[in-house]
Amino acid sequence: MGIFLELEKIAQTHPNYLHLSNCDPPVYGYVLEESVQRKIDQLQISKFSGYPSWNGDEKLRQALSQRIQEICNVELPPNKIVMTYGVSEGFPLTFDALFNKTPGSVAIPDPSYIPLIVQARRFSNIWFYTCDEELNWNPDMDQLVTSLEKHSDTKAIVIITPNSPTGAVYSEKILKELINIAGQYNLIIITDEIYDSMTFGTFVSPLEFAQEIPVIYLNGFSKVYRLPGYRLGYLGWYDPLEKHPDIWQHLKHLCKGRLGVTSIAQEIAKLALQEPKEATLDFVESVHKKQVFLTEHLESIDGISVVPAQGGTYVFPRITYNIDDEMLTKYLLKTHRIYVTPGSAYGLAPSKNHLRFVTLASQEALLKGVHALKKSLEVLGK
Ligand SMILES: Cc1ncc(COP(=O)(O)O)c(C=O)c1O
Repeated sequence: MGIFLELEKIAQTHPNYLHLSNCDPPVYGYVLEESVQRKIDQLQISKFSGYPSWNGDEKLRQALSQRIQEICNVELPPNKIVMTYGVSEGFPLTFDALFNKTPGSVAIPDPSYIPLIVQARRFSNIWFYTCDEELNWNPDMDQLVTSLEKHSDTKAIVIITPNSPTGAVYSEKILKELINIAGQYNLIIITDEIYDSMTFGTFVSPLEFAQEIPVIYLNGFSKVYRLPGYRLGYLGWYDPLEKHPDIWQHLKHLCKGRLGVTSIAQEIAKLALQEPKEATLDFVESVHKKQVFLTEHLESIDGISVVPAQGGTYVFPRITYNIDDEMLTKYLLKTHRIYVTPGSAYGLAPSKNHLRFVTLASQEALLKGVHALKKSLEVLGK
């Protein structure tokens, strides 16, 4: 995490930089469709000043239950859904509920989303399973099984699809393999699906194939609905055979203990869920175009190779020259005022020597990033 502090420091002394690793859709003009925006603007916010219920607005949870049915083909009733302060709060709730009584380990994909790693570390031991660039960033199942044999106290496995930062979207086959392994080793699945509809091909949710395996399902409004500022997410508890009622009890207890999440954000979320499907598709299409554009331009640079993302908002190019990625991000910021983040911050070996770009900025801005990278490699690669 030290590298982010270093980059922030450099950014302060090199103002007017171009941020190309910021996954904040409204900053780049991506907001909800106009008619939905108007309805949000008409909300009489003073009506929402009372305490919300601990688990969230009933109608909102009903709408989310319906959304889960449509996207994941699974029935998750509203009383098994709790609203959270973003997926970011879903992480500590999850790991606290899983590990507060019996310590153990959690298997996390490498590369992975950094706040997830940070929160998992607060409550449990963690170990990484490798997602292999040679396998289009799919998990290396043999390595996963070998590691599970070594970590006999593993209680849960995290799946992120579409993945951040690789943009991998797991196929039905891969998910079924992961679920089989989870079954064999008696694991609970934690699935982060915040980019679910932002998939450039088919999206399938681990929930769809989980059957009797317990799943903690995490999702939110920051990406697909472009509302990160309202800090709203939701957690679904799926345990059809009621193998772990204690975990669900503890999750509910934790949510009750913090008295619910902001009412006005939930009201806005109900409207967001009504966005016309075409508007959401237009947004995804625009991000996809930028992803293709950026990937093509990056691939044309000597010293860079890219596995195209299949979803999400990221491109995760590999630096094939022998150049340290952290050093390169500092150089790009100091010399060219381009802010991207180093792959090594997102995990262990597979993440090293990569850069993370977010595909929300304009094509013109992305192109500036590409030119800066090309020039930097010409100088540093010699
Ligand atoms: C994989 C993943 N999960 C969760 C989050 C954060 O979600 P939220 O804004 O709902 O806290 C992000 C944000 O970039 C993400 O990439």
